[in-house]
Amino acid sequence: MTFASGLVLAQVDALPDPCAIVVMPDAATPYATIIVTRRGDHIAAFRNKCPHAGYPLQRADGRIVVQEGRYMMCSGHGASFTLEEGACAGGPCNGEPLERIAIVVRGGAVAVA
Ligand code: FES
Repeated sequence: MTFASGLVLAQVDALPDPCAIVVMPDAATPYATIIVTRRGDHIAAFRNKCPHAGYPLQRADGRIVVQEGRYMMCSGHGASFTLEEGACAGGPCNGEPLERIAIVVRGGAVAVA
């Protein structure tokens, strides 16, 4: 599934620093969600699908655990990924990164490029 160019994912002012939040662009496809991350001035987006077993990263309460202000952790089996690049930083992701989604930040909004 691809996400439409221009689709607004978040407002920059609403993103805590650091954070990894889950965005559901379309309620009709709740399995197709996007992670938006922030660490300082660096904002990124990723498909919410862990490369280990394909789980979404969030816990049952909808939150993604951020560790040490630098890593997001998959609730499935504990793989961790960098907030900026989605690179595997430990656990069973075996070096595989999250799939990045290109974004633009314009007028205070984060949108799909
Ligand atoms: S599905 Fe993410 S660590 Fe297993």
